[in-house]
Amino acid sequence: RSREVVVVGSVNADLVIGVDRRPAPGETVLGSDLATHPGGKGANQAVAAARLGGRVGIVGRVGDDGHGELLRGALAADGVDLAHLTVTEGAPSGVALITVGPDGDNSIIVSPGANARLGPADVDAARDMIAGAAVVSFQLEVPMPAVEAAARVAAEAGGRVVLNLSPPAPVPDWLLALCDPLVVNEHEAAYLLGGGDGGRGPAETAEALVRSGPRSVVVTLGPEGAVIADGEGTAAVPSPKSDAVDTTGAGDAFTAALCLRLARGDALRDAARYATRVGAASVRRRGAQSSYPTPDELPGPPAE
Ligand code: RIB
Ligand code: NA
Repeated sequence: RSREVVVVGSVNADLVIGVDRRPAPGETVLGSDLATHPGGKGANQAVAAARLGGRVGIVGRVGDDGHGELLRGALAADGVDLAHLTVTEGAPSGVALITVGPDGDNSIIVSPGANARLGPADVDAARDMIAGAAVVSFQLEVPMPAVEAAARVAAEAGGRVVLNLSPPAPVPDWLLALCDPLVVNEHEAAYLLGGGDGGRGPAETAEALVRSGPRSVVVTLGPEGAVIADGEGTAAVPSPKSDAVDTTGAGDAFTAALCLRLARGDALRDAARYATRVGAASVRRRGAQSSYPTPDELPGPPAE
């Protein structure tokens, strides 16, 4: 296979301000200096997997603005194949307005811009790249018709489909059935299971999700690691401890690492164990892509 991981997804400029607390409607608060970082769930995954040594490509769109040049440059610097990153004439690049609170927690508003123009024609143009991938990774910051078209190409070519349901949106059953795994945090899991946690713990949540269609499921739990379910059972995967400075994009780093290890033939549990180390490393530095580790920067595995 020509690529280990191909990411079909969003590319955003992250405009980040640190705050002590977030304003209520009608209120103004002062924050830190503005930082502009390359981001977007798709681009974050591509950079994270490439920085870990993966052969990675991306299918996406940027605008014909300064942000687009910054974003392309960041992907190029990590060696991501940009043959199918298209510049969209007359559209702004995707932007994420991000506030980071004192505990490293974040709130994000995304303006999709050029990402919203990604469609089945882009997937057609990228058909060979997608079909040549061991793992094709999706999130939901690009339009569903593009996701559906690319998932079909991946499945027909025998590639493995990984979907991070972020931000949450309805997914057709046939697409859910291809996911191996579906990756969700607790909010996204609750969304899929019809709201609330139904009093379920993480293992029961993963179990309930896998019964709803996907081949396998990973429920991410931030500093608590993750729970995996594959229809034969569930397993808890612990995370190394990290002092969080900025958790933005930690989930993207986790999913990228998971995809890369699956592409290399790891079992889901081993891939998830590695992925928690990558996620934990990413929260120690500011930004998303700017915080992602090389293999020699990873913390050791936690004791079990
Ligand atoms: O997952 C983090 C990402 O979400 C940020 O980089 C931002 O661009 C939004 O897409
Ligand atoms: Na970070």
